[in-house]
Amino acid sequence: MNAHTTKVALVTGANKGIGHSIAAGLGALGWSVGVGARDEARRDAAVARLQEAGADAFGVPLDVTDDHSVATAAELIAERGGGLDALVNNAGITGGGPQQPSTVDLALVRAVVETNVLGVIRVTNAMLPLLRRSSAPRIVNMSSTVGSLTRQSAPGGETSTGPVAVAYSPSKTFLNAVTVQYVRELAGTGILVNCACPGYVATDLNGFRGVRTPEQGAATAIRLATLPDGGPTGGFFEDAGVVPW
Ligand SMILES: NC(=O)c1ccc[n+]([C@@H]2O[C@H](COP(=O)([O-])OP(=O)(O)OC[C@H]3O[C@@H](n4cnc5c(N)ncnc54)[C@H](OP(=O)(O)O)[C@@H]3O)[C@@H](O)[C@H]2O)c1
Repeated sequence: MNAHTTKVALVTGANKGIGHSIAAGLGALGWSVGVGARDEARRDAAVARLQEAGADAFGVPLDVTDDHSVATAAELIAERGGGLDALVNNAGITGGGPQQPSTVDLALVRAVVETNVLGVIRVTNAMLPLLRRSSAPRIVNMSSTVGSLTRQSAPGGETSTGPVAVAYSPSKTFLNAVTVQYVRELAGTGILVNCACPGYVATDLNGFRGVRTPEQGAATAIRLATLPDGGPTGGFFEDAGVVPW
């Protein structure tokens, strides 16, 4: 593949966990993958791991909460000469616990929304001009079934959608709602925008209590990042299919 035919992706929070596996998966498909990560040492180590595995990976300094960092990341990708074919907004935090609504620290809620929601808007808007240069642009927002109001309120929802978490779970509901607004604005542009849930994956995010591997968790996001033209947009997917909002 030459520089003009190689697909280019940016994965935020790609230094570890599910994001790292998404980057590895896209790299294995022959994509050039920008490893978005805020810490230089963790970013360099991740890029080295991916390159050792044969991927065309490059580091993208990126803190999704920082306007300047995000603008500089977009410049870095633009300077590589092409556009961007897929943006995977994967970076996310839980904010830690406890997150009982009646006692939560509002600073914690703000911090989670800043990363999980505003960070996605910030990064997406910086990357949209690059995505518009692609012949098949895709945006994947890493959500969670804990953001599904339908599942949260269904019988048994208290066991199937994790503990009460007034910052983390609603941040994913907010992200889902934001995604739908992008879908509406971008209708007819060819940019396909979807949400993914990776399942319960063993990562730092949950103290490695998850039951799935990062590779398994990456599968739906990779599928949505590589959708053919005419593929779905405005959906919320897990491995088993569509997740209700
Ligand atoms: N694990 C699960 O079971 C599960 C389930 C549903 C959804 N998800 C979602 O999947 C995504 C990935 O989670 P994970 O489980 O792989 O977690 P993880 O291992 O903790 O990785 C999170 C990634 O996000 C990065 N990040 C956090 N804040 C950032 C910021 N301000 N700027 C740039 N990068 C930032 C982290 O970078 P640092 O290393 O610098 O902190 C790390 O690379 C998240 O959106 C999460 O909500 C996970």
